[in-house]
Amino acid sequence: ARQVTGRAPVPAELADGPFLRACRRESVTHTPVWFMRQAGRSLPEYRKLREGIGMLDSCRRADLVTEITLQPIRRHHVDAAIFFSDIVVPLIAVGVGLDIVAGVGPVVDEPFGSAADLERLRPLEPDDVPYVTEAVGTLVGELGATPLIGFAGAPFTLASYLVEGGPSRTHARTKALMYGEPELWHALCDRLATISSAFLRVQIAAGASAVQLFDSWAGALSEADYRTYVQPHSARVLAEVGATGVPRIHFGVGTAELLPAMAEAGADVVGVDWRTPLATASSRVGPDRAVQGNLDPAVLLADERVVAEHVRRVLADGAAAPGHIFNLGHGVLPETDPGVLTRVVELVHEHSRREG
Ligand code: CP3
Repeated sequence: ARQVTGRAPVPAELADGPFLRACRRESVTHTPVWFMRQAGRSLPEYRKLREGIGMLDSCRRADLVTEITLQPIRRHHVDAAIFFSDIVVPLIAVGVGLDIVAGVGPVVDEPFGSAADLERLRPLEPDDVPYVTEAVGTLVGELGATPLIGFAGAPFTLASYLVEGGPSRTHARTKALMYGEPELWHALCDRLATISSAFLRVQIAAGASAVQLFDSWAGALSEADYRTYVQPHSARVLAEVGATGVPRIHFGVGTAELLPAMAEAGADVVGVDWRTPLATASSRVGPDRAVQGNLDPAVLLADERVVAEHVRRVLADGAAAPGHIFNLGHGVLPETDPGVLTRVVELVHEHSRREG
């Protein structure tokens, strides 16, 4: 039997806000906006709080997680909060030796490569991440009508870090395992899907209003290989989470050709990077899904006139979709001026305002 963790009833002011309405493709008073990596290094108050504290240590302290998640809400008035953590946190919680190295990303002590390594990936229990349950609970109280988005890494993206031992441009070792030892590959992804699903359901049980499954590096695959080697595992995660009723966002980078398959995996909202216009993306994922995206994060380094022009273009394109959540096409770059992010929120709200 599938294990489903329930959640408490959602207050109307939260359920009827623009972010959750857009997820359900209902009419909105303005286009909702939030930013991937809004909680983090673009903010001086984040850098100050993190002084002398390692990334993973900060993810395991409920007081810091709560404060860092709230910082961009106070500053930018975005329509949703994203939980401050990392996709590797549940892996560490089940005992994988791993660190996040500043400026590099996740680095694994002993990369995965054989069937014996599967034993290092036991299922995640809620008790493995008490700091997540605590922080989500506090946040939901503090956030009131602003929804909290929980998240996890998808099996392919997590597998890439475990197999490569760190970030990779080509994902060559990952693909070598996938093509060369498909049984081991599927066993690895099955374990990762179990962990990913449990991590999302911990966040939902504690009160998260929506979730995003990050398959950041899935765009490295052809559609056929994505469907064979990846989609079944992500589909299981999304199905287990779907049973709770919260909206599911499914995102990757460079996924123009994968958008239909990522939608079919079980997404209510499909995240799109800047390479695919939202109208095109929407026609690919069909009328039963909303889209999220897709301003190029590098545009925010240009002057205000250019930023405004691109914001309007994304809004115009997004208007073709049955639901649009404004976001960047990938995470906020650390060198972004936070004032520009605040301005983008204002622009999105001003230019999309309509009668209820
Ligand atoms: O604001 C938010 O979006 C919430 C927090 C968040 C972080 N990581 C915090 C973080 C989220 C949603 C993630 C997800 C994540 N982590 C992904 C998927 C999203 C994506 O960007 O595609 C991936 C691939 C990772 C793995 C990872 N962790 C990378 C590639 C890096 C960057 C390495 C670097 O230093 O450039 C990290 C570290 C990380 N995760 C930071 C933050 C704020 C930077 C650490 C720091 O501030 O010192």
